[in-house]
Amino acid sequence: MNSTFYRPSDERRRAAIATGGTRGIGKAIVDQLLEADWNVAVFDIEEPKALPPNQLFVRCDVASETEVAEAVDKTVQAFGRLDALVNNAGIGINRPMEQLAMDEWNRVIGTNLTGTFLCAKHAAALPFPVSQPSWRPRR
Ligand SMILES: NC(=O)c1ccc[n+]([C@@H]2O[C@H](COP(=O)([O-])OP(=O)(O)OC[C@H]3O[C@@H](n4cnc5c(N)ncnc54)[C@H](O)[C@@H]3O)[C@@H](O)[C@H]2O)c1
Repeated sequence: MNSTFYRPSDERRRAAIATGGTRGIGKAIVDQLLEADWNVAVFDIEEPKALPPNQLFVRCDVASETEVAEAVDKTVQAFGRLDALVNNAGIGINRPMEQLAMDEWNRVIGTNLTGTFLCAKHAAALPFPVSQPSWRPRR
């Protein structure tokens, strides 16, 4: 799926990022935001089955700072602003801890904790709302 398949944005529409928005709870949140006339950028490692109007898909592993920084840039380029971040992406491995390998543990921490931190960090670095010229990035 090509992530440029979104409708050209109207900068008056509020814009959100929803991580893990391809399915489950994240998709339900995305659907609600679209229903309320928001533009929504979905950051996910899994492609959505369909791309409704006003939704942007950015393939992004939230545990990667490079990918998150690029995804936030793409969102602002597409929508011209960012008003909300929904840190929803998360995983769990339902097994007794003595059976859990370190790489599995690190994947959970990377997605659930580091991912939440990185998305908040790069969203917070933007002027808010980014469309208002009086706002400047915090240093
Ligand atoms: N479902 C529940 O009962 C429940 C209970 C408590 C908390 N939660 C939390 O709510 C959130 C959503 O749960 P769900 O049941 O909808 O999960 P889900 O597994 O159905 O969906 C998670 C989404 O996150 C995406 N994702 C996973 N790793 C990612 C990564 N590294 N980068 C980007 N995207 C990634 C997946 O591709 C998927 O689209 C999770 O954080 C979960 O831990 C869920």
